[in-house]
Formats: sequence, structure tokens, C-alpha cells
Amino acid sequence: MDKQALVKEAIAAREKAYTPYSHFAVGAALLGADGSLWHGCNIENASYTPTNCAERTAFFKAVSEGCNTFSAIAIVGGAAGLPISDWCAPCGVCRQVMREFCDPETFEIVLACSESEIKTYLLKDLLPLGFGPQDLEVAAQKEANAQ
Ligand code: THU
Repeated sequence: MDKQALVKEAIAAREKAYTPYSHFAVGAALLGADGSLWHGCNIENASYTPTNCAERTAFFKAVSEGCNTFSAIAIVGGAAGLPISDWCAPCGVCRQVMREFCDPETFEIVLACSESEIKTYLLKDLLPLGFGPQDLEVAAQKEANAQ
């Protein structure tokens, strides 16, 4: 799937955003390494902190269905009810969730402020010096070697 098509899927996913508090609607389209496509929207809550971002909705849907390797995600966001007109970059928590499942060297984060204005970043550039599963594996190995 090309980037413009992935952005269109994110724009469609945004239609489902549940945003009675912020009125800021976000959509995400996550591409599995196997070509599978996972949509996500932000889902807010009267208690505020349980709010889930669009990106994490997409990741959690995919992982809960058995897909846990990914190649790209498209993200769009802005005032609910209006067409997108600004860039919407993923929050820090969502970048960390990406770090859990994606290779920082190759995973592409595709942002768009219209269907045709698109910028692509690598996860390693949006989350430099990230902490990931391998860091715990290295520590566990050192602990085992010391025994
Ligand atoms: N939000 C996302 O869904 N993704 C982002 O990358 C940024 C923020 C949501 C969370 C909340 O529902 C609303 O946007 C305002 O922060």
C-alpha cells in the first residue's frame, strides 16, 4: 500500500474519533508487515486519563488479534468536524508503544496535513535513544552470566 493510500485510511479512521472533551479528532492507519491494515481513533473519557490515542488504539487492536510486526503508520488529526489542515505528530507515550513492536531503523511514521501533503519520518528520528525490549534482554543476559 502506498503512503497516500495509507493516509486516506487514517482520514477514514478519524471519522470514528470519540472526542467530547477535546474536540480534537485523530485517525491512524497501521500497516502490518504481512500487509494487514489496522485502523485506530482516539477514544476519550469523562475521567480524562483513560483516554486512548488513535495510534495506540490501532496498535492494541492489531496486537490483540495476533499481529505484532509492523512497517508503517499514518496519522492525521485536528479540530473535530473539520478537514485536516495541520500536522499531528504522535505523543511520547505512543512513540514508546511503537518502540515496543517496531524496528526504529525502518518503521515509518507518515504524517499528513491534507491527502497529498505528506511527510515521512523514521521511528529512530522521532524517538532518539529510545528504551526497548532489547535493553531488558541485555540486562537479563548479564545477570545470567554473573551467576
Ligand atoms: N491524541 C491522539 O490520539 N494522538 C496523538 O498523536 C496526539 C493526541 C488525542 C488524545 C486526545 O484525545 C486528543 O488527541 C487531545 O490531546
